[in-house]
Amino acid sequence: MKIDGKFPNVRLRRVRNSPWIRKLISENNLSVNDLILPIFIRDGKNKVESIKSMPGVYRYTIDKLNIILKKAKKYKIPMIALFPYTPKNKKNKLGTEALNKNNLVCKSITLIKKKYPGIGVMCDVALDPYTSHGHDGIFINGKIDNDKTNEILVKQAILQAKMGCDVIAPSDMMDGRVGKIRKALDKNNLKDICILSYSAKYASSFYGPFRDAVGSNKSLKSDKKTYQMDYKNSNEAYREIALDIKEGADIVMIKPGLVYLDIIRNIKNKFRIPIFVYQVSGEYSIIANGIKNNLISKEAIYESLISFKRAGASAIVTYFALEIAKELSSSN
Ligand code: PBG
Repeated sequence: MKIDGKFPNVRLRRVRNSPWIRKLISENNLSVNDLILPIFIRDGKNKVESIKSMPGVYRYTIDKLNIILKKAKKYKIPMIALFPYTPKNKKNKLGTEALNKNNLVCKSITLIKKKYPGIGVMCDVALDPYTSHGHDGIFINGKIDNDKTNEILVKQAILQAKMGCDVIAPSDMMDGRVGKIRKALDKNNLKDICILSYSAKYASSFYGPFRDAVGSNKSLKSDKKTYQMDYKNSNEAYREIALDIKEGADIVMIKPGLVYLDIIRNIKNKFRIPIFVYQVSGEYSIIANGIKNNLISKEAIYESLISFKRAGASAIVTYFALEIAKELSSSN
């Protein structure tokens, strides 16, 4: 890039000298329209339970969901993402609880769609909250079986869509699942249901606190490297995303966020498709603990979220959604 002019005629600090001009000059901005709020649900009644590994994040029983949904509505969060903490006695090798129309996710969708019809609902398609081994798929002969897992995932997706879920988000990283889910949705007269594919989902250490939040960390013995992507790769992300677009993905997700900004930018340049990014639990906990311990200031949250916008993300799944939405509504 050719740089015009030189010092002292050019002084870039002139456009930084006061808040008002910095506002006018800003190339990227964050609004509540960019935020997706993840919500953890648990069984039982009358409980709002803190999650040790994620300061400020809670698990809600269904009768208490109102507390967080009211805030989401007040601050005009466009969409929430539901994650269940399945009781141990409902987990098994095949994750069959995923297909129970009275499971935590399904019951929550019904409630939310009835009481908060204006809020979009997104649900993960993956078996890890339901399997006794904590994996996203099922084992056959000691290996995660891609095609047999897909058969279950398709059923899970159809069930969630029938219950009223607006955005089906396969986060399992099996091959070919987007095409199979799209086909099944269309066949079931669910043509308007969106698919948000976790296309480039890396096998990451940053998911640690989430696994605590959904209770899969103790059961998970091995890693997820046979299906989630190797963090050494970026070309592979192109292939994953190109395939998912072909199979019918409406939106693609890149996950985690902060350590994959290069992937977001490259994919945005290459494909004309909305990209969502997931600021995952580990990113959240590091920043939240840094703030709690006075190591960094609260503005770090905003800085991290703007970095996703700068990289090219359309929207961000973040556990900071409510906090930031509240702040955005009080500034300006
Ligand atoms: C699994 C799933 C994971 C997250 C969302 N869906 C974790 C995993 O792959 O083990 C992680 C989210 C986070 O860390 O915040 N289907």
